[in-house]
Order: sequence, then structure tokens, then C-alpha cells
Amino acid sequence: MKKTAVILGVGPLEGLGARLSIHASRANLHVFVAGRTPSSINEVVAEIEKAGGTAEAFPSDATEQKEVRSLINAAENKGPIDLAIYNAGNAYPGDFMTMTPEYFEEAWRVCTLGGFFFSQEVLKAVLPRNTGTIIFTGASASIRGKPNFSAFTAGKSGLRALAQSLAREFQPQGIHIGHIVIDGGILGEKLTSNYPDFVRSAGPDGLIGLDGLAEAFMQLYMQPRNAWTHEMDLRTFKESF
Ligand SMILES: NC(=O)c1ccc[n+]([C@@H]2O[C@H](COP(=O)([O-])OP(=O)(O)OC[C@H]3O[C@@H](n4cnc5c(N)ncnc54)[C@H](OP(=O)(O)O)[C@@H]3O)[C@@H](O)[C@H]2O)c1
Repeated sequence: MKKTAVILGVGPLEGLGARLSIHASRANLHVFVAGRTPSSINEVVAEIEKAGGTAEAFPSDATEQKEVRSLINAAENKGPIDLAIYNAGNAYPGDFMTMTPEYFEEAWRVCTLGGFFFSQEVLKAVLPRNTGTIIFTGASASIRGKPNFSAFTAGKSGLRALAQSLAREFQPQGIHIGHIVIDGGILGEKLTSNYPDFVRSAGPDGLIGLDGLAEAFMQLYMQPRNAWTHEMDLRTFKESF
């Protein structure tokens, strides 16, 4: 029986969630590809199957505890969960003085609360075996705020704090908890479709590559338990920091 990977927050094929799913399947894991848009996650599953891997699409909203619970139960019933990645989180930019509480809360729900639902359910499954890896996707906003990103920064830094707390609580019980800070724009569908001028102005290697990112997640997953990384940050060589 194959072990399973669950990737929650999968969108278009040229996006991080999709690329993480593809790389997880190459590691011989059966992948639960989870996101809100069935057409997107079905496309990712088709791509995995075309390459000889196995996967299934599981429509799921990270902010709905029942849906997250069903996802994790389905994955655990298929085979033991060995890798779980919480990748949901859009950027949520916005002018602070006109921002509504609903918008601020929505950013927190997706970036932080969903991570709580996800990790709690995954931990219920993996703790009895004392093995498994949970990785959270972070952003520059996980570690520093900047104008127009108050809601996103509050959400992502909350997720980072959650990851750090879980690492200190559950690593001694054999569960590897990782947090990856993506410090800069990703060269993927989100930016190429919505901000083509920004992508052009970034120039060659001005944005972070999807394969390099996915490989970093898999490196954390592959680490032996006597040499674990909790947090990794990734940026292109051009980025000042
Ligand atoms: N794009 C960047 O430049 C960038 C930079 C730094 C960090 N990041 C982080 O990297 C991660 C992936 O970003 P990405 O832009 O490459 O997107 P992606 O991995 O292609 O897609 C993430 C997907 O998560 C899904 N999602 C959003 N809210 C969700 C929810 N409530 N429940 C389930 N799924 C949900 C969305 O798909 P649906 O709308 O179809 O559900 C979205 O397309 C995010 O955590 C993001 O904050 C991105």
C-alpha cells in the first residue's frame, strides 16, 4: 500500500499547489489534491496520472472544518498519511483605512484558521505512528509587514507562529513540522495572468521558480529525523533582503 500525501490549496497547473502535488507523486506517494475548484484539481490529477503516478482530486475548502476533516479521513483511509502540506493562501492586499472587518477576517480564515483545522486533523492521524511531515507555505509577509499588506501579514505571521508552536510540541513525538518562507513572487499562473507587467519587469530569474520551490519542500520531507529543518527561506538571487 502506498503512503499518502495531502496537499491543501491547489489551484491552476502552473501554481505551487499543483507543482507540490506532482513532486509528491514522484516520491511514490498517492496524492490527495485538494482545493476549491474541481476543474483545477482534476487537471492536476490528470497530469500526475499521465506521468504514471496516482492521485485523486478532493474538493475542499480549507476554512470549513468539516471539509478538512473529510479530506484527512479519506487520505488516511487510503493509506497512511506521510506528508501533509498546507498551501492555501491568497495575497489579500488592501488599503488599511478602508478595509472592512470581513476582509481582514477572511484573510485570517484562509491563512491561519485553515492551517489550524488542517494540522489538528493531520496530527490526529499521524501521532499514533510517531512519524509524518507537515509543512506550511509562508510568504515574505510571514516575517515582515509592509504597506497594503496588513491583513495578509497578520494571517501569514499567525500561520508561522502556529507552525513554530507545533514544531516545539510535536517534533519530540516524531512529527516533522516545517515552514517555508517564500520571499518574493512566484513565476506561476497567479502573477503571469494578473500582473504581466510585474512579471516582465522582474526579468529573467526575477521571480521564484516552481520546481525549485517544490524541490525544497520535498527536501524537508526526505530529511532523516536526526537532521530536521524547521524553517527554510527561499528567494531568487536577485532579491535584496
Ligand atoms: N504567488 C506568489 O507570488 C506567492 C508568493 C509568496 C508566497 N505565496 C504563497 O504560496 C502559496 C501558493 O500560492 P500560489 O499563488 O502559487 O497559488 P497556487 O499554489 O497555485 O494555488 C493556491 C490555491 O489555493 C486555493 N485556495 C485559496 N483559498 C482556499 C481555501 N479556502 N480552501 C482551499 N483552497 C484554497 C486557491 O485555489 P481555488 O481558488 O481554486 O480554491 C489557490 O489557487 C500560498 O500560500 C501563497 O500565499 C505565493
